[in-house]
Amino acid sequence: MQGTIGTALAGVGARLDESRLRLRVVDSQRLHPDSVMPPYHRVDGLTRVGTAWASRPILSAQQVEDVVAFLRTLRD
Ligand code: HEM
Repeated sequence: MQGTIGTALAGVGARLDESRLRLRVVDSQRLHPDSVMPPYHRVDGLTRVGTAWASRPILSAQQVEDVVAFLRTLRD
């Protein structure tokens, strides 16, 4: 199934450099405060997080780097 909430990611690796991609994955709300995109590596300031997941980022730093490396390959 393909959702359409987020922007299409085709070509995003050509539009955004590595640090810009990383920021969007780590904490999209830094750029768009009302973003519905989950912050994949921020743990503070969140609401409605189950106690078992408190203080645990969705993705580890290494996993963020892996996602960024993949996004960099989306060049056309
Ligand atoms: C691992 C999963 C995801 C990745 C790698 C990802 C990546 C990105 C990237 C790179 C952008 C910037 C696109 C651009 O500027 O051209 C973006 C924007 C966006 N994403 Fe995601 N995204 C993910 C998951 C999600 C989810 C789950 C949602 C919503 C439930 C979402 C919603 C959005 C929205 C609405 C934007 C537009 C800008 C904003 O409002 O923040 N994304 N995403």
